[in-house]
Amino acid sequence: MNRRDALYAVAAGLTGVPAFALPSMLTRRVPSSGEMLPVIGLGTWQTFDVGHKPSDRAELELVLKEFVALGGRVLDSSPMYGSAEQVAGDLMAQLGVRKKMFVATKVWSSDKAAGMRQMEESMARLRARPIDLMQVHNMQDVEMHLETLREWKRRGLVRYIGVTHYTASEHETMARLIASEAVDFIQINYSAGERQAEQHLLPLARERGVAVLANRPFVGGDVFRRVRSKPLPAWAGEIDCTSWAQLLLKFVVSHPAVTCAIPATSKLEHLRDNMQAGVGRMPDEKQRVRIVRLLTS
Ligand SMILES: NC(=O)c1ccc[n+]([C@@H]2O[C@H](COP(=O)([O-])OP(=O)(O)OC[C@H]3O[C@@H](n4cnc5c(N)ncnc54)[C@H](OP(=O)(O)O)[C@@H]3O)[C@@H](O)[C@H]2O)c1
Repeated sequence: MNRRDALYAVAAGLTGVPAFALPSMLTRRVPSSGEMLPVIGLGTWQTFDVGHKPSDRAELELVLKEFVALGGRVLDSSPMYGSAEQVAGDLMAQLGVRKKMFVATKVWSSDKAAGMRQMEESMARLRARPIDLMQVHNMQDVEMHLETLREWKRRGLVRYIGVTHYTASEHETMARLIASEAVDFIQINYSAGERQAEQHLLPLARERGVAVLANRPFVGGDVFRRVRSKPLPAWAGEIDCTSWAQLLLKFVVSHPAVTCAIPATSKLEHLRDNMQAGVGRMPDEKQRVRIVRLLTS
């Protein structure tokens, strides 16, 4: 049995080795509180939107179970993701893992009262009251919702508040927002294939003490198409990577401003692969440049 197989055998409870023998996942501090979070999280867009049939939920149950077994905590969803919140909430309850997790979702509404109702429904679906993180989805009516969220945070209904977007065209708007408003988290697109956030937004988040969730770390899967015909470079082993997914995720989480990357997957094999990116050696500046070159060469 090699090291990787041994790791999973332990996680799956297949050996007599105690769980504390697992290499623990790298964690990052949430600046506004000091709470530590593991650097690999789990997105739910499309992947968790599978509806009610138990057969359609079976693989996701394994994904979620393994995510927690391998030290994952941060799950990101939205009421705009079809049945994803309901599926994630049901599965967390079924597996009895809700309390171990850090649950993030979003609000998207052009009406203040409707936004409040939407957030209440999300918390009920996710069995998360208080919810760990409530974000204004795509900064839609952001000032209006932040007013509600500040009040809800004071009342203890949400632990952290934040804003999200998924395109570089909105980075400057978000930068202006975090320069003047107090938010705990931003969630933005950042990957070896989309690096615009490095110019201004990531340094600013660091300076302002704002935690960063990196969405679309695989550019929605597009980066795999770009490297499909290329062999993994031999030097990937120097940073303990055995796959493209690990190399690409290590690029994201090795940026000092990033708190957690939230790749989405519907497959157990991919989940295991992605979680490996949170352990072992991380790329230094030179290795980060080499990873980017692999995508562009
Ligand atoms: N506006 C917003 O707030 C916003 C916008 C976009 C995204 N997000 C959040 O960020 C999360 C992540 O973004 P995303 O879902 O757009 O894209 P992503 O995580 O960059 O890519 C997901 C794709 O990568 C594939 N994949 C995952 N792990 C893999 C592996 N190890 N090997 C090969 N393929 C792999 C998945 O397919 P398989 O299922 O086959 O693994 C899926 O097609 C979302 O789920 C959502 O929670 C938020």
